[in-house]
Amino acid sequence: MVKQRAERNRTISLADDEMGFYFSRCVCDATLSDLSCVTDTVICGDALNVIRQLPAASVDLLLVDPPYNLNKTFGATKFKQMSADEYTAFTEEWITSVKRVLKTTASIYVCCDWRTSLIIGPVLMNHFNVQNRITWQREKGRGATHNWKNAMEDIWFATVLPKTFTFNVDDVKMRRKVIAPYKVDGKPKDWVESDCGNFRDTFPSNFWDDISIPYWSMPENTDHPTQKPEKLIAKLILASSNPGDLVLDPFLGSGTTAVVAKKLNRHYIGIECEREYCAIAEKRLEIADTDLEIQGYTDGVFWERNTLALQQKLKSGMQGQLNLVGL
Ligand SMILES: C[S@@+](CC[C@H](N)C(=O)[O-])C[C@H]1O[C@@H](n2cnc3c(N)ncnc32)[C@H](O)[C@@H]1O
Repeated sequence: MVKQRAERNRTISLADDEMGFYFSRCVCDATLSDLSCVTDTVICGDALNVIRQLPAASVDLLLVDPPYNLNKTFGATKFKQMSADEYTAFTEEWITSVKRVLKTTASIYVCCDWRTSLIIGPVLMNHFNVQNRITWQREKGRGATHNWKNAMEDIWFATVLPKTFTFNVDDVKMRRKVIAPYKVDGKPKDWVESDCGNFRDTFPSNFWDDISIPYWSMPENTDHPTQKPEKLIAKLILASSNPGDLVLDPFLGSGTTAVVAKKLNRHYIGIECEREYCAIAEKRLEIADTDLEIQGYTDGVFWERNTLALQQKLKSGMQGQLNLVGL
């Protein structure tokens, strides 16, 4: 049943007759050990079962957004909160099996809330070289009367080898407004002036305060309950893979990783157990055939929150006046 939505609501959903159409594009019974059969596909199945069949040493970048340890309904399935020991065993199991499919040069990112971070971090440390922990200030969160509102998530960054891995720092710079413009000999020092303000392209830190959770008026939004923003996934993919590389997401949900990989010229394999989300992912992948936009990422840089109007202004006519590349 298609929900009635407000006029400006841009949520991607499936009409009654679209479910079968899009789901038929997913892989359900291919020879999973043959890379050519699974590259650039959404595989409908259980992550562990599928991973065991994928070819060894084939993946350049692993992005994992596992179910957090909460009672949560994903489509037809209710994920039940486990004890800490059970969640540790679940984490240990998928990490152990996914190791086999990674290239030695691969990077790994795993999303967590504060509670699962306490479990996932140590397990990652046992298997990989943990390089960093990103804190994403996601802003939105349910108010709590007897505790602090939960408004951040962790993203662990690990690699197979301690030193040999891809990190394209110039591809993930942040364009920020300059608060205190400093000049040397009357000229801006490492920033540029424009009619739209003064800007500097800065090195990305491990604190991300520029990304909002997808909401109803964003073109990427779906009804998936825990959809990640394309902008967030774009940072991870741009930093830690190169065009043509293969990105694996074993808990694909609404398809964000596959969609962003496609938009950024990477290959992907997505695994998701819910048929409805697989179909949504395929619909989003079709939209990406003609729309490569990633909200918040224009001109090869990431912009601060709520700067869409500014980005559009620069795009429509002011381009060229602001060229910070090479700063
Ligand atoms: C946190 S969500 C991922 C959301 C995703 N990052 C997105 O942007 O939409 C986790 C997903 O894993 C799926 N899932 C849970 N257990 C799974 C399993 N054993 N195999 C495959 N998918 C599973 C759930 O259905 C859910 O869609």
